[in-house]
Amino acid sequence: MKKTVCILYGGRSQEHEVSRQSAASVYRHLNREKYVVMCIGLDRDGTWHYRETPAVDADPVRGDMLRISPEADTVSLVPGKGFFVGTGRLPIDFVFPVLHGTFGEDGTLQGLLEMMNLPYAGAGVLGSALSMDKEKAKTIWRERGLPVVDSVTVRKDEFETMPTGRDAALAAGGRLGFPLFVKPVGAGSSVGVSKVMNADELPAALAAAFLFDDRALVERAVEAREIECAVIGNERPRAFPPGEIVPRLEYYSYEAKYLDPEGARLSIPADIDESVSLEARNLAIEAYSSLSAEGFARVDLFLDKADGRLYLNEINSIPGFTNISMFPRLCAAGGLPYGALLDAIIEYGFNRHARRSAVSFDFARPSPEPRSSAS
Ligand SMILES: Nc1ncnc2c1ncn2[C@@H]1O[C@H](COP(=O)(O)OP(=O)(O)O)[C@@H](O)[C@H]1O
Ligand SMILES: [Mg+2]
Repeated sequence: MKKTVCILYGGRSQEHEVSRQSAASVYRHLNREKYVVMCIGLDRDGTWHYRETPAVDADPVRGDMLRISPEADTVSLVPGKGFFVGTGRLPIDFVFPVLHGTFGEDGTLQGLLEMMNLPYAGAGVLGSALSMDKEKAKTIWRERGLPVVDSVTVRKDEFETMPTGRDAALAAGGRLGFPLFVKPVGAGSSVGVSKVMNADELPAALAAAFLFDDRALVERAVEAREIECAVIGNERPRAFPPGEIVPRLEYYSYEAKYLDPEGARLSIPADIDESVSLEARNLAIEAYSSLSAEGFARVDLFLDKADGRLYLNEINSIPGFTNISMFPRLCAAGGLPYGALLDAIIEYGFNRHARRSAVSFDFARPSPEPRSSAS
């Protein structure tokens, strides 16, 4: 029996367009011999639109993007019953969120899918929320003794309302030593990220970060090579050999990531010593497991050019998924081509759902019935 897989894409985050790019690739590569594929596009206001066969727009800069048609049927959710278009229930077996950033990658959508009792791709509520929160992720990694770059967190309310808070924030930032990087705790795709060369530039950089979150991370800048590692799996994750991002300009900006074809070069595998590659993979697995990531993720590291040390930078629980994106290319180079990668991710999602379904939440019914969709 084919499973019906529903792709969710678009959404309310700054990464709406990127999601439509990623979704076009996932849509194309899902094996139609195994799955019936349907699509729900989330517009910028958060309304869900259903299309069994969405149109694909060929954007001159971004490439193929799944379209969200405002005239398409809107979707309603009935908790405990499923997704509906009008009075018709959509026969969804599995949800594949291809949504980057806030309200897609941060645990909120995952909570909704848990409430709907639907299996889905990727990390659960906790893993998603921790992965999205750069401050909490770094706190846990530090606690585990994993290497992270020195940083302080500045809260928007303190910074904006209290002169002493503002001075303290500036002083704490300054103590790390310039140059610094300032970034919103919970954004992505380099949105709101700036490199700060001196104290005068710090307030404007914080203000830019606070457009996207109410906490900002002020971090010592490392002169580093950017190493990225694909990790898949649930209880026993595996990491593929890492790749390297070589940005053309100062750092890996939004433009370099998605708009400028010459913005960055992806070197796969990274041209690094075998021992460094192995260490990066081990760190990536520890970073992944310690945040309760599941299914798949991309773990990004810095390799300090000065002393060769590796640092964990961040984890992305729904990484860019276009066919030229780092994550699927790392998996393909490591022996798992795009279509097979999607199969594996779907299997991990079903397995996780089956595992959770075997846990009783009800004292009166300690042995729940196995769920048919978890087979
Ligand atoms: N501490 C740092 N030192 C050097 N470069 C950094 C630092 N923090 C961020 N960057 C640069 O900014 C880019 C985006 O920052 P990152 O923390 O990865 O946020 P995002 O989630 O937006 O990708 C990185 O890929 C890197 O080029
Ligand atoms: Mg990044």
